[in-house]
Amino acid sequence: MATLLLTNIGQLTTVDQNARVLEHSAVLIQDSLIAWVGDMGQAPQADESIDLGGRAVLPGWVDSHSHLIFGGDRAEEFVARMAGQSYAAGGIAVTTSATSQLSDNELSEAVAARRAEALAMGTTWMETKTGYGLAVDEETRHSVLGKPLVDSLTFLGAHLVPAGWDADEYTELVTGPMLDAVADNVDFVDVFCERGAFTEEQSRRVLEAARAKGLATKVHGNQLGPGPGVQLAVEFGSHSVDHVNYLEEEDIQALAGSWAGWDSATRTGTPGTVATCLPACDLSTRQPLAPGRELLDAGVRIALASNCNPGTSYTSNMNFCVATAVLQMNLSLAEAIEAATYGGALALGVAGQTGSIEVGKRADLHVLDAPVAAHLAYRPGMNLTHSVYRAGKAI
Ligand code: NIG
Repeated sequence: MATLLLTNIGQLTTVDQNARVLEHSAVLIQDSLIAWVGDMGQAPQADESIDLGGRAVLPGWVDSHSHLIFGGDRAEEFVARMAGQSYAAGGIAVTTSATSQLSDNELSEAVAARRAEALAMGTTWMETKTGYGLAVDEETRHSVLGKPLVDSLTFLGAHLVPAGWDADEYTELVTGPMLDAVADNVDFVDVFCERGAFTEEQSRRVLEAARAKGLATKVHGNQLGPGPGVQLAVEFGSHSVDHVNYLEEEDIQALAGSWAGWDSATRTGTPGTVATCLPACDLSTRQPLAPGRELLDAGVRIALASNCNPGTSYTSNMNFCVATAVLQMNLSLAEAIEAATYGGALALGVAGQTGSIEVGKRADLHVLDAPVAAHLAYRPGMNLTHSVYRAGKAI
């Protein structure tokens, strides 16, 4: 079995349960897994050793919310928005039409290029969603070609009611033939529960259908205004509710209550519903930033994700999301890093595999061209990614 020692790490942010930050440390990788973490002076021998020159290392980002399976872009819509037009879910139809015009090869190449772009910026685990198909054949095609290109895949047939469809009849299609066609390819079922998308009742039907199939769920909720998304997500035990811009006190309490069976000190028990904040999307749509600070203070576990998509957030740069969370959402650097790594892993149900630097976990590491991780927010907008290891392999 091949071993690789990454040594002379200036600052190692482990994001383990004790939030250990080590100086002058080293990490031993054996094949795809982390085999040892500790003081560089006591590091074991390895087949190969790489001197990181005092750079900072943290877990690779876990981006738990993106929409990479699309064709075209919506720059015109963005420009109009910057001129004062408000975001409406209807823009999804523009992307659905552009996506349907791409061949399988063209679409696969576009998704692979977007995934490679994110990986090069430190994202070692990435979720993406279908949802620009909105027809049985297209949603199926997207699930088939998306599956090998990402780490977690979510079915979002309930993204928008396509033109010409009655909303209830379309919901029946999503919860019946469409879900049947994609179920074997996906890890999660998601629904956009929002004014202009799916009502509470329709969303409930989507979540019930997922449950009947034994699939885990997510909800896009409370993005454009207060609504039932958060409460539904908690009621159904969803892994996450994403966006969470407009929350009532009852929403925050419901989310906090969902974590009652989780012991944060030992990271054991039954996880609740993660509140996923999407700061790049909030800036691009000029929505108020999600209340990450209030959520953390109430005891809710949060994730930070890019929401990379052509309509509301055309970036997969998690360094940018973390910097924004620190500078504009009042998170500490440690909280933001945890939300973008371990928090994302909780939102995807993969916290046993990735999201922190601990023995036995996948060797997903992000080396910064900086001596300490604080540079992520201290030097916003700079390209601070020096190198990335995914499952033990340098990319
Ligand atoms: O997460 N909220 C719904 N879906 C995307 C937007 C998709 C689009 O406008 O194309 C989002 O922001």
